This record gives sequence, C-alpha cells and structure tokens, in this order.
Amino acid sequence: MQDIDDRMSSTRKRLFIKTYGCQMNVYDSERMKDVLHPLGYEPAEEPDGADLVILNTCHIREKAAEKVYSELGRLRPLKEAKAKTGGMTIAVAGCVAQAEGAEIMKRAPVVDLVVGPQTYHKLPELIAKAHRERGEALDTEFEVEDKFDQLGNDRQVEGYSAFVTVQEGCDKFCTFCVVPYTRGAEWSRPVDQIVAEIRALAAKGIREVTLLGQNVNAFHGEPPAGREADGPWGLGQLVRHVALIGGIERIRFTTSHPRDMDQDLIDAFADTPKLMPYFHLPVQAGSDKILKAMNRQHTAEDYLATIEKLRTARPDIAISGDMIVGFPGETDKDFEATLDLVRAVNYASCFSFKYSKRPGTPGAAMFNQIDETVKSERLQVLQDLLSEQQVAFNEAQIGRTLPVLFEKAGRLEGQLHGRSPYLQSVHVEAPAAMIGQIGEVLIKSATRNALTGRFVSKEQSAA
Ligand code: 5AD
Ligand code: SF4
Repeated sequence: MQDIDDRMSSTRKRLFIKTYGCQMNVYDSERMKDVLHPLGYEPAEEPDGADLVILNTCHIREKAAEKVYSELGRLRPLKEAKAKTGGMTIAVAGCVAQAEGAEIMKRAPVVDLVVGPQTYHKLPELIAKAHRERGEALDTEFEVEDKFDQLGNDRQVEGYSAFVTVQEGCDKFCTFCVVPYTRGAEWSRPVDQIVAEIRALAAKGIREVTLLGQNVNAFHGEPPAGREADGPWGLGQLVRHVALIGGIERIRFTTSHPRDMDQDLIDAFADTPKLMPYFHLPVQAGSDKILKAMNRQHTAEDYLATIEKLRTARPDIAISGDMIVGFPGETDKDFEATLDLVRAVNYASCFSFKYSKRPGTPGAAMFNQIDETVKSERLQVLQDLLSEQQVAFNEAQIGRTLPVLFEKAGRLEGQLHGRSPYLQSVHVEAPAAMIGQIGEVLIKSATRNALTGRFVSKEQSAA
C-alpha cells in the first residue's frame, strides 16, 4: 500500500481557487485546499497552467451567476491551451453551484463538475469521476483489456486451486479507501475470455477457482457468443456457467460489496452446489453514522437483511467480513454498534483493521481523527470477540463429515493438508494419492486456525 500512497502524493499538481463573497466561502476554500492537498494539489497564484481551477461562488450579490459565466468564458482559452499538457479540470463550487448546478453544466460545457457547499469532502471522488468521464479512464480500460489479451491462458500454476481475475476497479469511493483512485473505474472481463482461461486451468489439473475482483459482485461481463441478446451477465450467471466446466469442482469469489448483492447471486448459493458455502462480505462498521461517513451507502440493517437472505438460500453458509475500527468520528457508542453487528452476524472468520489515513482519500482530511491508543483498545476488544466466534464456528464442525479438497502433503509424515467447504485448513492422515482430490473427513477436533479428523473415503462424484 505504501508505494501506492507515495505515488499518489508525489505527482504535484497546481490548484487555483477563486473565492467570491463572504468569510464562509474564504473558509470553505481553505478546507477545499486541505482536502485536495493529499492528492498532490499545491496552490497556484493564477489560473493559467493550473491542473484544477475552482470558482467558489457567492449568490448574494445581484448578477452573481452572470459573473461566474463571464469568468468561465475567460477560462476557456486557458483550458484549451492546457489540453496537451495534462488538461485543466474546472469546478464550480459554492452557493451558485448549489442553486443552479444543472443549468451551469448545460450552459458552460467548459465546466467538468459542480459541487455544493455540503459536499466538499467528496471533491476527490468528483474529480476522479470527472477525469474518467473526460476519457482518461478509457486509457486505463484499454490497458486492462490489453493486459488480459496479452497475458494469454498459458498460466504456470501449481496445486489445485487458482485465482482468476474477472473484474477490476471500483466506483464506490468509500472514504477510507485508495482503490478507486489507483485502480480506476469498474470493468469486467468478457465471459468467454474467463471461461477459456478456466478451461485451460482445468486441463492443468485445477479443481477449484476463486473469481477475483475488487468489486466482484458488480460483475457485468459481455455474455458468451450466441447469448448476446442477454445483455451483460451478472456474477450469478457467470458462476453457473463456470460450474459447467469439466474438472472444476469448487467455485469461490471475492471481494463483494453489500450494495451489489442481487437475488440472482443469492439464488446461485441455493442452486449451484459447486459454489462453496462461504461468503466474504465486508461491512466495515456497525454504526449507520460511521457507514455514512465512510460513504458505504448501506445501513447495518441492509447488511443484516442480506445475510438473512443468504442463510435462507444456503442454511450452512459461513460468513466472513472486514471491519475497520477508529474511523474519524467513531465514538464508544458507534464502536458498540460494530460489536452488536458482529454478534448478530456471528462470523466464521473476519479481518479487522485499525483505520489508517490513505493520502488522497476524503477520510485522510477529516478533522475528527481517533487517537491511536483508542483504536488499539477497540481493535483488541473486537478481535477477542471475532476470535471467540471463529473458534465456536470451527468447533461446531466436530462430529460432521466434510468434503475436503486435498492440496498438498502436510507437515507431519503421512498427513495431508486440505480445505473444507468453509475454507478452513484441515490436517489429516490420508493416502498421498488423494492429493488433488476431494475426500470425506470426519472432523474430530478444532482450533482457531485448523481442523483435524479421520479420513473416511474418496468422495463419490456428484456427476
Ligand atoms: N484503513 C484501514 N483499513 C482499510 N482497508 C482499506 N482501506 C483501509 C484504511 N484506510 C481495509 C478494509 C477493506 C480491506 C481490504 O482493507 O476493511 O475491506
Ligand atoms: Fe471500492 Fe472496496 Fe475500496 Fe470501498 S473498500 S472503495 S468498495 S475497493
């Protein structure tokens, strides 16, 4: 992560802000400079040659809007002159923007974005989106496409489980996260290209694929040849299609966003036995106030409702997640809400992090940062709870017979290492010939990180 952060802040850009009107606007202009500083924007004395020009407008005087339009007229030739050297982004902020946003965009195409006084913290997101619309994203999209074309399908794989990228990029702009700025817009690979890669992997002995994407459940890939009329395929459709590939016995995917859950994907857990009953669905926090500040665009209740639907579709589904403690503004009460949500979900496993500032993200410029010692204390409390849940989940497997995909020899003589459907490590004495195959294991004991048991038999093929 560190090198990405350095790269973001090392590209120096010039920012010119023209402030009209009252003291409030002067203050707001300073705040905008603060928000943009981590993105590498340094104040400039004049608009000529600036990378970003913001007109922070005032609506009090008569003809305020007209003044803004004539200023925009003066900026047009400067923007044209800058087109060859990185371009100039023009933003209109302040009260005129608030009052006449849509009208400004229509009348003055020179304007890239309009931002009202309540949304200055969203400037990094709005600027990134404006750049994408201006076509800068297209360059990176073509690069992604090229990348996959040129990489080809001849992957050197070891073992029996492989990752396959199906989607890249993110349009969510969670205020703590750097991904939308570094990885660009959401983009999905065409279904046929994915299938060709997985077929080639299956021919090399791969039995399990994990479909990867920063926002994997936002997948909307070009449908396979002959199915053009379907329009873009969602992840549920892709999963069912991958399940038809000979040799592939297990399918997983990661990472998903609660906002992109659709019923079709939930149904896939019910109707596609090869889709493993383990789902990584990060929520990040349990307090609606913090979720809002994080720009997650869902509530704790929305998340819990999704978990409920998943459990209805696949009663044994194991839920995993990601949590952040100490996001700016998090009170003890907010943190309690995180613990409540964790208790309600009952995670099989969950990653947890202390919030840390990422330069260029809105969270980094928030003024109500949390003390490091408070973050550490909260993390400890959360991790103790998650640890208890993980142990309880693992212990609940004792006495069950689970199908295990054996991946390699274990640490002890005669032992193999494999994975349960719930992604738990399983260590068990079994014939070496089982490596690369699925066998039944009667689970005898469990720790926080692994299961052990007795090898029962080679699994009867479902086919
Ligand atoms: N601080 C702490 N955790 C973060 N994550 C992403 N950005 C930050 C940050 N600034 C965590 C989120 C995400 C996971 C991959 O990393 O929980 O889901
Ligand atoms: Fe996108 Fe995930 Fe980062 Fe949010 S946390 S901005 S969804 S990559």
